[in-house]
Amino acid sequence: MSRWARAAYFCLLLSACTEEPLTSIPAPLTGRDIYLAKCAACHQPDGNGIPNICPPLSTSPRLDGTSDEIIRIILLGMKGSIVREGKTYSGIMPAWRFDLGDVQIAAVVNDVYSRWKPGSPEVTEEQVRRIRDETAKKKLFPTEAELR
Ligand code: HEC
Repeated sequence: MSRWARAAYFCLLLSACTEEPLTSIPAPLTGRDIYLAKCAACHQPDGNGIPNICPPLSTSPRLDGTSDEIIRIILLGMKGSIVREGKTYSGIMPAWRFDLGDVQIAAVVNDVYSRWKPGSPEVTEEQVRRIRDETAKKKLFPTEAELR
């Protein structure tokens, strides 16, 4: 091997050895990751919301209802006034149907349940897909009354 070839080979060897280890492959996002990225700015990491601006999820009566209804709200968003614990909320809940897939919505709802309503039945990807199809032609941002 010539001196140059040896130097080139050495550089190659060095660069191969300093490659990023395989552990740098990102892990799949958990429901908690999605909650923190997409929901926590408004509903807050502890789920207690912002008084008179974003309603709490931690104490929401919605968690006693059906998961179908929660999934519908996440897909379509929501607007109009709701009263929670004596405070009025008249903001807009964004529609997530364009941003979050079925797996992600199922994961985030399961995260909300695991924190604030443990023991709730598990939400599945298939359930979210069914509601996505059922609501495909519904108008975005229904009011509380229109959701029913
Ligand atoms: C930009 C702020 C904002 C973000 C981000 C947001 N929300 Fe909301 N959310 C609201 C507001 C405001 C309402 C109340 C809407 C109304 O008054 O009709 C609401 C309502 C809700 C409700 C109904 C609560 C009840 O007691 O009826 C649920 C469930 C909900 N959001 C879940 C989520 C989830 C899950 C995410 C993340 C994927 C999320 N929200 C992201 C602002 C937000």
